[in-house]
Amino acid sequence: MEVLIYDNYDAMCAAAAAAVVETLNAKPNAVLGMATGSTPLGVYRELVRLHREEGLDFSQVTTFNLDEYVGLGPNHPQSYHRFMREHFFDHVNIPPQNVYIPHGTTSNAPAFCDWYEQRIKDCGGIDLQILGIGTDGHIAFNEPTSSLGSRTRIKTLAKQTIDDNARFFDNRDDVPKYAITMGVGTILEARQIALLADGSKKAAAIASAVEGPITSMITASALQWHANTQVYVDTAAAGALTMTDYYRWIQDHKPGAP
Ligand code: PGA
Repeated sequence: MEVLIYDNYDAMCAAAAAAVVETLNAKPNAVLGMATGSTPLGVYRELVRLHREEGLDFSQVTTFNLDEYVGLGPNHPQSYHRFMREHFFDHVNIPPQNVYIPHGTTSNAPAFCDWYEQRIKDCGGIDLQILGIGTDGHIAFNEPTSSLGSRTRIKTLAKQTIDDNARFFDNRDDVPKYAITMGVGTILEARQIALLADGSKKAAAIASAVEGPITSMITASALQWHANTQVYVDTAAAGALTMTDYYRWIQDHKPGAP
């Protein structure tokens, strides 16, 4: 994994947005993997700005979101459908028919999950997947002990994830207990992965994911198998890494570094 450390959240998001731009410049009809949560908000803000002010074009782009809560319809205020519209899709020119987000109210989840996997394949696979990380080390909703070969399916949320996400709901009891999520195996098939984390509450998870053993207890650690993953962190989220001097040295000296 390539660890890229930034002084603050905005600089981290600008760098991750630049990776999206690079992908679109190389392939205007790229397939992007989208994430929800607080972490990628700054990336979406920057991409919206680039669209408005610099004409960044998404007209040929297709997107697949990582996950959705089971039971929440697309207009529920806490649904990831709604989140994505509010923070990104309503502000850029991605054709609505090119947007894929798991259906939290499907009546046949196994068939839906198979269809979702097939759509990703039929669209040519994901070129760049954006990821956050949970405080329990999860990617998407692949909670500890998820198979590292898992595919899109229903997962039961871990207590820690329910606690972490309760801030978005009026009551902790309102947080759904299940989600449809891409699997670790699904995510590992993306051609490029951008994992983002900011703040000291993510420092332990990032250290385990990057420098710890590959284990289903920290599903983000499976990214160590992935040949083209960049880890974007601010200094606080990098706080528990032991090799930061090395990562910074590579960041400053790699070919093409400013
Ligand atoms: P967050 O969530 O960005 O809201 O911290 C990340 C995650 O759970 O993957």
